[in-house]
Amino acid sequence: MKKKRILSGMRPTGKLHLGNLHGALQNWVTLQNDGSYDCFYFVADWHALTSDYNDTSLIKENGRDMIIDWLSVGLEPAVSTLFVQSRIKEHAELFTLLSMITPLSWLERNPTYKEMKTELADKDLSTFGFLGYPVLQAADIIMYKAYGVPVGVDQLPHVELTREIARRFNFLYREIFPIPEPLLAEVPKLLGIDGRKMSKSYDNSIYLTDRGDVLKKKVEAMFTDPQRMRKTDPGRPEICNVFTFHQIYLPQTEVDEISDDCRKAAVGCVACKKRLAVRILEGMRPIHDRQDYYRSHLDEVDRIIADGNAKAATIARTTMEEVRDAIRI
Ligand code: TRP
Ligand code: SF4
Repeated sequence: MKKKRILSGMRPTGKLHLGNLHGALQNWVTLQNDGSYDCFYFVADWHALTSDYNDTSLIKENGRDMIIDWLSVGLEPAVSTLFVQSRIKEHAELFTLLSMITPLSWLERNPTYKEMKTELADKDLSTFGFLGYPVLQAADIIMYKAYGVPVGVDQLPHVELTREIARRFNFLYREIFPIPEPLLAEVPKLLGIDGRKMSKSYDNSIYLTDRGDVLKKKVEAMFTDPQRMRKTDPGRPEICNVFTFHQIYLPQTEVDEISDDCRKAAVGCVACKKRLAVRILEGMRPIHDRQDYYRSHLDEVDRIIADGNAKAATIARTTMEEVRDAIRI
């Protein structure tokens, strides 16, 4: 039986954090291990350029580090195809062709576009490339005729646009592209250590590379139930970010115990966080071991990426032949 193809990507804009791990990567690994999907995961380095075009010094390095983290959390290159967008020039060609048929109004009304522009107000994002971001993303997705795109809610408008662009292509030229589905996973809502969204720009993230005392200090600095001023005040685990982490890193019996103790004020937040720090350290150890392995075997990493690129390129070339034929160019 032919496996359904899955495709997703990440921009190499910096180190990955636990929010990325539990919000996206874990799901990528689950889809890989399910066995019924043919998974393609890629580094969206051209997309990183749309916001970081004025400082490109780290994009390449971040891309390789990101793939090292992917391998470390359990993506297996023998099963999933891991590749780099900018190595597959066909993405640029398809982007150009799709940009011819994409109405400007679809891009201008894109909510992610409007939000990002306000959020990244310190950057000049009034570029052609930034407006065209979703067209490039559509090219990424339909190039591989993906059936499903595992993404977070923030990316839903982009997948919706991809669907519209694919339909328009099929209508104008020929039915080449399946209409991709967004695949949303149930993910825990992990906040940064200061209780805001975990984000590199807030400096509140626990990174996949944080270890030992750095990791411990971060966990111990985490915000808890804000109304719990004293140790004798009962706490509310359901609104405590530390508790959300406990639910991931501790077995259920211990989670229940902490929940009870917190409500009865039988445990203090300091002790509670110390306990979590130990468990996160333990939980991350296999990931850190694999990071060490790949960092000392960079040739192997580069070979994995080259193999992934070659696999992706074969498909991209075939798709583009069909596309050129359909457009008659
Ligand atoms: N826009 C995505 C993000 O910021 C990255 C991305 C680029 C992507 N191309 C894609 C995701 C194709 C899924 C499919 O997370
Ligand atoms: Fe959160 Fe633990 Fe403090 Fe309860 S005891 S509020 S779960 S940190």
